[in-house]
Amino acid sequence: MNFAGEHIISIEQFERSDIERIFEVADSMVPFALRARATRVLEGAILGNMFFEPSTRTRVSFGAAFNLLGGSVRETTGFKTSAIAKGESLYDSARVLSGYSDVICMRHPKEGSVAEFAKASRVPVLNGGDGANEHPSQALLDLYTIKNELASSGKRLDGLRIAMIGDLKFGRTVHSLSKLLCLFNNVHISLVSPQELAMPQLYVDQLRSSGHTVTCSSDLTSSIGNVDIVYSTRVQEERFSSPEEADLYRGRFRLNQSIYTKYCEPNTVIMHPLPRDSRADANELDSDLNQNPNLAIFRQADNGVLIRMALFAMVLDVVGKVEKYSHEVTWYSGRTR
Ligand code: NCD
Repeated sequence: MNFAGEHIISIEQFERSDIERIFEVADSMVPFALRARATRVLEGAILGNMFFEPSTRTRVSFGAAFNLLGGSVRETTGFKTSAIAKGESLYDSARVLSGYSDVICMRHPKEGSVAEFAKASRVPVLNGGDGANEHPSQALLDLYTIKNELASSGKRLDGLRIAMIGDLKFGRTVHSLSKLLCLFNNVHISLVSPQELAMPQLYVDQLRSSGHTVTCSSDLTSSIGNVDIVYSTRVQEERFSSPEEADLYRGRFRLNQSIYTKYCEPNTVIMHPLPRDSRADANELDSDLNQNPNLAIFRQADNGVLIRMALFAMVLDVVGKVEKYSHEVTWYSGRTR
């Protein structure tokens, strides 16, 4: 794929070589993310960050990534404070906002909305999550994290063994990650969810027709024993018809240190797209895992900046110029990875 000027809406746009290229560019962003160097390569460019659903990590890390490349960020958050609340169509919003921005990131509660918006946009649009459909930049940072976490034990993405746990029906991160895994070989996927929140058949079929092994279960402890990665997710309560319905599923699959010690292989890596739901009735990843060196959730969140910097650099076609416009930072930064 030639990234310059393209929208990034779905994992289906990518081939394996594109993923390898994104990861290579993300690696080259490390000195900038660590503030060892700064770059002005996107000086004068404006990111329109349009988030019509709650977001912390995705919104702030897209913004931080753009700032770290030297660009500026303009934001709209929530329906109430935007003209969409006055009945403006996605088409009109896209025509207008793309006049103010050089690239747009958008999150919206409706499946397909970001693609519809992109059609009317005059600048590239990156999907920050469209309803329960997809979250491509999250899947990229998830897979980048998996690759880096497994590297120390000499494992590769081909042959990966992963358990995806929780709300697999509404969780857009696991939908995009499943599509992404289809680009690799011989992956073993253990899907753990209540039956009502099972992974939609479409994704299971795609995984199987890519030659992967997929097992489905509603039992946590028997599903996490032979995996490299445990990928836990939150019950997506905002997608249920009522909070009471979501209550039925919250807290079903809780991983804590004693379950981890008893059932997981010693080096199993624990991931979660975050936010983890830390309320007592949910608590899918207990805080007693915080000192576990295999808890990768914060490294995973940090990697979001690298992946999003890579996407901006590729879409705005400045990958080869980042160094040229770079310089040392002048302030103290004791930042480490
Ligand atoms: C996820 C999302 O919004 O889909 N969060 C994120 O972007 N890191 C997962 C979630 O909200 O549970």
